[in-house]
Amino acid sequence: MRVVRSVAAMQRIALDRRGKGSVGLVPTMGYLHAGHLQLVRAARKQSDYVVVSIFVNPIQFGPKEDFRRYPRDFARDRRLLQSAGVDVVFYPRVRDMYPEGFATFVEVERLGEGLCGKARPGHFRGVTTVVAKLLSVVLPDVAVFGAKDAQQAFVIRRMARDLGFHTRVIILPTVRERDGLAMSSRNVYLSPEQRAEAPALHRSLVLAQNLIRRGERRATIVKAAMRRLIQRESGGRIDYVEMVDTDELRPVKTIEGETLVALAVFFGKTRLIDNTTVKTPNPKL
Ligand code: PAJ
Repeated sequence: MRVVRSVAAMQRIALDRRGKGSVGLVPTMGYLHAGHLQLVRAARKQSDYVVVSIFVNPIQFGPKEDFRRYPRDFARDRRLLQSAGVDVVFYPRVRDMYPEGFATFVEVERLGEGLCGKARPGHFRGVTTVVAKLLSVVLPDVAVFGAKDAQQAFVIRRMARDLGFHTRVIILPTVRERDGLAMSSRNVYLSPEQRAEAPALHRSLVLAQNLIRRGERRATIVKAAMRRLIQRESGGRIDYVEMVDTDELRPVKTIEGETLVALAVFFGKTRLIDNTTVKTPNPKL
């Protein structure tokens, strides 16, 4: 496994790989857990050559967010990726990804504005800009993302389609702890009490699924029930609980077809997100 630090060297490897089999990319910010490793395994299965990027991307963090204290452990990440059979770890420096005078940004309209985009203005612009750069540098045939960050995955998929990247965007299900909490590098910020309460988020999603399965179609009713559960079973402060269509990510009043149920809740300063997708049977079929 090679560790590549410069953008130019990564570009040379990518150009050299052309015509030698498929390339898979898994973009990450490091501090890897089983959720990331699931994406790496999928990339391994789907492609002949696997690149994992580790880059804590400053431009997707707001001025008051956790860029500086975001957890980092390259030595550990490197060991995990070596065991996972990765070919290249692309681990660029900020000044190489964003050289002096960097002025180009990629923005997907509408999709990045609601849900997490409201509390984190500019966040998805930072994500799509860095992912566009990674796709241009690595030239992957497939890029693998997690449904844990559903809005991010949808925004990236739209960007790849709109800009004509040849990369196929794959989205894999959320990997959870035994008690249902979605795995996240940010879970290390939680106090023991917060950690014990955090699975309430997943329970609220299961509640939503059950209500919808039993025939509830009014989004307001489902959202209110989810809020009550979160408030009853945790000390978390709700940022949003929302139900949107999976195409334009617009809030829905009536649950029909494919609906994304998504939420963000603060535990102290730590903001946790989670989501699930529900499909109601199409009455016409
Ligand atoms: P990061 O939070 O490190 O996540 C990297 C990838 O792992 C993302 O596609 C994310 O959705 C996925 N992932 C995280 N936790 C997961 C879980 N529990 N189950 C399944 N997949 C999970 O997301 C980012 O980094 C950045 O925004 C990035 C896309 C790298 C751009 O900087």
